[in-house]
Amino acid sequence: MSTVAVVGSLNIDLVIRAPHCPHKGETVIGGAFGMAGGGKGSNQALAAARLSAKSHIIGCVGSDDFGRKIKSALTENGVDCSHLQTRKEAPTGTAVITVTDEGENSIVISQGANSLLDDGAMTGAMNVFESSDAALFQMESPPKTVAAGLRLSRQHGCMTFLSAEPPFSLPNEVWKNIDYLILNERALGFYASHKQHKSISEMAHEILKRGVRCLAVTQSAKGGMIFVNGGEDFSFDAFSIRAVDNTGARDAFCAGFCVALCEGMPLKRAAKFASACGALACTKMGAHPSMPWRHQVSALLGEAHGDDYEL
Ligand code: RIB
Repeated sequence: MSTVAVVGSLNIDLVIRAPHCPHKGETVIGGAFGMAGGGKGSNQALAAARLSAKSHIIGCVGSDDFGRKIKSALTENGVDCSHLQTRKEAPTGTAVITVTDEGENSIVISQGANSLLDDGAMTGAMNVFESSDAALFQMESPPKTVAAGLRLSRQHGCMTFLSAEPPFSLPNEVWKNIDYLILNERALGFYASHKQHKSISEMAHEILKRGVRCLAVTQSAKGGMIFVNGGEDFSFDAFSIRAVDNTGARDAFCAGFCVALCEGMPLKRAAKFASACGALACTKMGAHPSMPWRHQVSALLGEAHGDDYEL
């Protein structure tokens, strides 16, 4: 069994289905309302556990009902919460999410306690990094903490993963501490310094030159591309599914990619595994509820690739 340390955000998601996302100044009459566990860190930790990794979350919630709700959901799913801080200074993070009838979303976050995750929490989690195969980060925690966490987890022998969403400027020293960087096209454009007239491949290789070992660019229904420092680039397909809600799909992809590589799957198979995880996460409303289980991923890969596809 592989062990994954996830450093990141925990939110309660307040979700409303609507015919379209509101434009400036517009009020939209929506449909069903739902509340679910979310936050990129908590989604990835939950997904890693459901994909049968030993999963740890390192993050902060407030001392409130939302915080208790997320903590118990993670614990019930087997996520180790011994490095989840409960803080009195700020409420639990909240996300307000609009999901359209096509399954697309737009998200506004109130970071709350997530902004209290500091370097001290990274030092305090050293024993977790020491015993983990990989450490997985996103950008809903303070960038300084992410930088410190990447450095420390790398020093303690973890493979490091950064899902750099939402994109924020990062200190230069960070790039060389990233083994696997996962970006969507928007984030790729943000991080590449010379964007004009550059192809995805040119922007990706520019980022690899900063010291990143491997870059995955996700492209939703188009699948994605993998760029390897000094290796062969390749693309991977998306699975064809009926999207109900794509909230958390990239989190499921990241957790799947990380777990697959920790288990020693070759890169191409890991990308396919991750793509299946992302597809399954689009088939249900809500982030936590849609994080896929290992048997569902195996079934999707088995159906799509025939019996000779071994996991
Ligand atoms: O990636 C999806 C997540 O982004 C949601 O669960 C929301 O909480 C925001 O963090």
